[in-house]
Amino acid sequence: MELRNKKIIVTGSAQGIGASTVRAYVAAGAQVAAMDVDTDKGEAALAGLDGPGSAFFIRCNVGDRAEVDTAFDAAVKRLGGLDVLAHVAGVHRHAATHDVPDETLAWLFNVNVNGTIYTNGAAYRHMPQGGSIINFGSESGLTAEINNAVYGASKAAVHAWTRSVAREWGKQGIRLNAVLPYMVTPMYERFREALSDEDLAAHDKATAEQIPLGGKFGNADTDLAPVMVFLAGDGSRFITGQLLPVDGGLISVR
Ligand SMILES: NC(=O)c1ccc[n+]([C@@H]2O[C@H](COP(=O)([O-])OP(=O)(O)OC[C@H]3O[C@@H](n4cnc5c(N)ncnc54)[C@H](O)[C@@H]3O)[C@@H](O)[C@H]2O)c1
Repeated sequence: MELRNKKIIVTGSAQGIGASTVRAYVAAGAQVAAMDVDTDKGEAALAGLDGPGSAFFIRCNVGDRAEVDTAFDAAVKRLGGLDVLAHVAGVHRHAATHDVPDETLAWLFNVNVNGTIYTNGAAYRHMPQGGSIINFGSESGLTAEINNAVYGASKAAVHAWTRSVAREWGKQGIRLNAVLPYMVTPMYERFREALSDEDLAAHDKATAEQIPLGGKFGNADTDLAPVMVFLAGDGSRFITGQLLPVDGGLISVR
């Protein structure tokens, strides 16, 4: 019950890491407003949660500033305040870098970059007593990857934002950290499906060689959710402005 009565918003709650985070927060006693652009999956992901905390769903496209402000106002009214934002929502698509389609560029930056700035700003306005914001970066924002530079650039922007804003908002007692995950989720399954047989074999070989803890991507419930609880809770009260890989040791951040 590490998060007993904490009031928390989780974005990207319909599947993958976001859904796992909601389950962990409810199990730790929190009151959770779960948000996603996909209403059907978002509602379904909350079915069967049995406390001791609780969760309700609000549809929210994080790339739409007006929708974010409205959804956050409604969530905070129902929660009675806001202690934590776990901003998990994000999107991925490979793109050939010599001719990036405008639609791909706009979509990746709108959801990943604007979405971070909109949700973090809305959370700030509802955290007069301080709080914890957990953003989602990526190893792709720190390293070089073929056909993945646009996504990587969008996540590098999340890293820079998180580090800079942590210095500013720390004065108000608001902590910002970014998790850099390596987890099996629907996004990762789609990532694999987009690779050729040759590239997939190379990816699996590199994963086996480069992840010292087990040689494969992690499980969001067992390998990441406890970290999400820690970052939301008071135990991490002196940690801010950090990029935290939860990736079995794949990368070390400086
Ligand atoms: N899975 C990994 O290994 C990995 C690696 C690096 C970074 N990440 C990052 O972790 C986060 C979670 O990834 P995941 O693997 O769980 O992804 P996922 O695709 O499985 O789930 C993402 C969720 O975000 C929601 N979403 C997408 N666009 C949205 C929008 N505009 N507004 C609100 N919700 C929206 C989707 O509907 C979905 O429910 C993302 O930010 C992703 O970039 C994941």
